[in-house]
Amino acid sequence: MKTPTPKIKIGFMGLRPSRFGIRGFAVPNEADELVPIPGIEFTALADINAESGQAAKELFGFKRAYTDYREMLKNEDLDAVVITLPTSLHKQATLDCLAANVHVLCDKPPANDYEEMLEIAAAVERSDKQYMFIRQSRFSAVAQATRQCIQAGKLGNVYAGETKWIRTRGAQVRGDTWRTNKEKGGGVLIDLGIHGLDLLWYCMGNPTPVEVTASETPAFKQFAPDPEQYTADDNFFFWIRFENEAIIQGSFAFGMNQVGPKGWKKPELDYSDEWQVNQICGTQGGIDIVGGKLITGSSTDFELSQLPVDPALEGINPMITQAKHFVECIQQNKKPQNSIEQAVQLMKMLSALSKSAEMKRTIRLDELLTSTEN
Ligand SMILES: NC(=O)c1ccc[n+]([C@@H]2O[C@H](COP(=O)([O-])OP(=O)(O)OC[C@H]3O[C@@H](n4cnc5c(N)ncnc54)[C@H](O)[C@@H]3O)[C@@H](O)[C@H]2O)c1
Repeated sequence: MKTPTPKIKIGFMGLRPSRFGIRGFAVPNEADELVPIPGIEFTALADINAESGQAAKELFGFKRAYTDYREMLKNEDLDAVVITLPTSLHKQATLDCLAANVHVLCDKPPANDYEEMLEIAAAVERSDKQYMFIRQSRFSAVAQATRQCIQAGKLGNVYAGETKWIRTRGAQVRGDTWRTNKEKGGGVLIDLGIHGLDLLWYCMGNPTPVEVTASETPAFKQFAPDPEQYTADDNFFFWIRFENEAIIQGSFAFGMNQVGPKGWKKPELDYSDEWQVNQICGTQGGIDIVGGKLITGSSTDFELSQLPVDPALEGINPMITQAKHFVECIQQNKKPQNSIEQAVQLMKMLSALSKSAEMKRTIRLDELLTSTEN
């Protein structure tokens, strides 16, 4: 009789039960209880907030809960760890996990900046463990269909992408969270911008970035309880040119004096207080990823259709698809789709964008350190 494959023992670092990380690994069973996806067991978790940790332990049936993640790494015989800690802790937690010889899945952004990312990449190279960063949108049915349409040449020469995530006027003017503190990994570019930028970049086939131009403004700083603590950008605009001559332009705001289109998410409002745009254009067609639409044909005779999505992915939470992929990569020793090399390129783009905004000039990517210079 075939011996069953042992389950992968997973630990989680930093998880409010309401948050995404853990929910991406849990599915309801027939009794409507949340159970781990096949192939894994929820072994342990660590959250500095004992109450949150305890709540998550009970809800998901973890064996043990810790308040110090280093204790968890020391005491448990884990195979893999999922890091959903605040951004400023991603680098150290990843290094600690690799040193403890466990596979890592780390939430976005994979690091606070490019230099931190290079440290992580060096540690991954020294280790024989899998490293993957969380970018669940890549695993959605529409993203997969978009990438496949582009690969199959349905859009012709793909030359432009546009991405926006706008929250109107002062949505996040609290100034008391890491999200509005740049050193702690805050700012709208790295918090929201990373989603749209990575999605378009992935769907367009991860072209090599060449230069970037950006502008940032903390437009609502004056309303924060302590403006000195409000160091992050809350309005960010950019333009990236790639080696294949395609471009991506982006606009992101935690709060912005702009009236959103009617009917986006909240049909009862005359305007939307939050909306997103993710569109890719080619010489023969274009895709609206948010709307799941494909436009083809000539300028006078166009055809609008639904994106041809894979029915096996339709309606499935992309976090679950992503988690299954991570588990499969561990089981089959296969390279993750969200690879370390892509994490390095992504963080290089984000750091170049921040530098461009700060220096108020175009930045060439080759102005930044390379891994060999590190
Ligand atoms: N993939 C996504 O779509 C998505 C969505 C939201 C947030 N995120 C990312 O998830 C991360 C966490 O965001 P958040 O809003 O949940 O942050 P948060 O500030 O709520 O912290 C998350 C958890 O980490 C715990 N924590 C904080 N410091 C800790 C420490 N030293 N040791 C152990 N636990 C600690 C907190 O108690 C909390 O339960 C961020 O990097 C964010 O970018 C990703």
